[in-house]
Amino acid sequence: MESGFASRIAQLCREIEQHNYRYYVLDTPSIPDAEYDKLFRELQTLEAEHPELLTLDSPTQRIGASPLKCFAEVAHRTPMLSLNNAFSFDEVRAFDARIREALDLKTIDYAVELKFDGLAINLSYRNGLFVQGATRGDGSTGEDVTENLRTVRAIPLRLHNAVGDDLAADVEVRGEVLMFTRDFEKLNQQQRANGEKEFVNPRNAAAGSLRQLDSRITATRHLSFYAYGVGICEGVDLPGRHDGQMAQLALWGVPVAAHRRVVNGVDGLLNFYREIGEQRAALPYAIDGVVYKVNDLSLQQRLGFVARAPRFAIAHKFPAEEAMTTLLGIDVQVGRTGALTPVARLAPVFVGGVTVTNATLHNEDEMRRKDVRIGDTVIVRRAGDVIPEVAGVVLARRPADARLFLMPAVCPVCGSHVTREADEAAWRCTGGLFCPAQRKQALLHFAGRRAMNIDGLGDKLVDQLVDAHLVSTPADLYKLGMSGITALPRMGEKSALNLLDAIDNSRNTTLARFIFALGIRNVGEATAKDLAGRFGSLDNLLAADAARLQQVPDIGPVVAQSMMDFFAEAHNREVIEQLRAAGVHWDEHEPHPDKILPFTGKTFVLTGTLATLSRQQAQAALEAMGAKVSGSVSKKTDYVVAGSESGSKLVRAHELGIAVLNEDEFLLLIKG
Ligand code: IVH
Repeated sequence: MESGFASRIAQLCREIEQHNYRYYVLDTPSIPDAEYDKLFRELQTLEAEHPELLTLDSPTQRIGASPLKCFAEVAHRTPMLSLNNAFSFDEVRAFDARIREALDLKTIDYAVELKFDGLAINLSYRNGLFVQGATRGDGSTGEDVTENLRTVRAIPLRLHNAVGDDLAADVEVRGEVLMFTRDFEKLNQQQRANGEKEFVNPRNAAAGSLRQLDSRITATRHLSFYAYGVGICEGVDLPGRHDGQMAQLALWGVPVAAHRRVVNGVDGLLNFYREIGEQRAALPYAIDGVVYKVNDLSLQQRLGFVARAPRFAIAHKFPAEEAMTTLLGIDVQVGRTGALTPVARLAPVFVGGVTVTNATLHNEDEMRRKDVRIGDTVIVRRAGDVIPEVAGVVLARRPADARLFLMPAVCPVCGSHVTREADEAAWRCTGGLFCPAQRKQALLHFAGRRAMNIDGLGDKLVDQLVDAHLVSTPADLYKLGMSGITALPRMGEKSALNLLDAIDNSRNTTLARFIFALGIRNVGEATAKDLAGRFGSLDNLLAADAARLQQVPDIGPVVAQSMMDFFAEAHNREVIEQLRAAGVHWDEHEPHPDKILPFTGKTFVLTGTLATLSRQQAQAALEAMGAKVSGSVSKKTDYVVAGSESGSKLVRAHELGIAVLNEDEFLLLIKG
């Protein structure tokens, strides 16, 4: 019987470590948390009943030990170096030129990899067992965080050789501890729920979690780890090239990120930079650049070091996504639906590749939660194409005269009073289309590419038209004439003609576009299409009551109520009639009976490039079969169709366990 327990324990250890690896290294969690916990508890119980079978590398040894008073110092056996940075292609070309000259070689092979934005650590393994882990510290001395690192489930507690035995060698593994973005977000949610301070970014969260004196806290923090190098290695011969060493580490069971390869010459470096730049937003963790290393270790040795950084490697940084600056003031912007958004006015700062002077504070609650005050030094974040936001405050730099900001009691644009519903984050102006701000946003929405598609009618022009009292409703656009437009400042005859042309062309539209263009709250593009298809004509739609509206798939009580409110407003009906009178038209058809199409009620997301269909064709085919096509993956998504070069949406689909179809499967589905 004894051996039965031993083999069950061994099996559980293996299985749990596999799940750890899938979650923390591959980013493809394979079982629900509850299942994982069940396996874990079974192992704990068996080990408690059979203490003689407990091993040091059991996953149950990752739950943390008693708190320390302070961290002991660790002298690194070989220094932990830093990297020089390159911020431009020219600096990379200069790096390559220096190396070719120093080595007198025509071209160089480089190992290229990610620059993880976490914390450098050193892991010591003796005879294959994890014995000590330390932070980088000043490069020669770090802090002993062994107990904390033991709780990091991506870090192997033992290294194994090719046949699965303990590796008979003393090895130092170097790499980066980091926190996946999703775990960072979950952690901040928890911090919020517990009324504790949130972390500004995953790096700070990882650092704060690793430097806990109580490793039981670290154990709850979901840290991850990737290796990028080897320190001392005794008792086993390592390959003579960097890529070979990384492959060797991976074979021993050390996590090494898949985004790495060997390239030739400077073009190879720059291509890798561009490629990773495109994939950056879709990665499950933050990186702040890529790293280039001369691949051949004997060449590395010949190149040597300058000060604390190697000559043979360089970090090519992406434009920083975060920067510090001063918050000069707070403005309040009014959106299309009247929502009041506090916007930070900032001392200009270069972040995410552009100069930023404004960043959103989202809403009153967010502003309070982050405790943002005028005069504060703030951290501004601009990731990818996302609107810049204030991520947090540097409290240590708060000046004595920093001031709280109160949301205004009336709309700053039209003076109407503002209200806030109990379940909403936003204050809203009650002025409706009386409010010039809402009017402008409504006009911009009406003219938008996916709505009436009036080319050239952007925010500057809308500002001018509304401020000059030439336009106050969408219907007024169709009454504009040459003389009114050319009277605007900086408006030439040519541009005026173009605008009139664009307005004229927009008269010929579709019912779906028209419904969407009206800007009814909660009625997006997809809902507008559903409504147009179902009701066939505007009069049918206007005649529908809330119950009839809710017979349309995906229309619930909230959307139905928004529509009833909108159409109940005499002003809105009037604008619609004026638009029809001005010649805005579309094709109509009989209302669809409530027939059930093959994909009625199913939501699809398209991502990547399909070889045989354009995105529009694929979407049209799906919609014709009753499916809804959405732009983002959520729990409500039924299928994700992934073409080549799929990015974050595919990652998200895997995360949520949503069915993914490749192009062949998709074609079968729509043709079958
Ligand atoms: S190699 C001999 N590779 O960047 C060179 N470092 O600025 C030693 N880092 O302290 C470092 N990703 O924390 C190397 N793929 C990578 C890296 C990386 C992130 C960090 C590491 C290091 C810092 C140097």
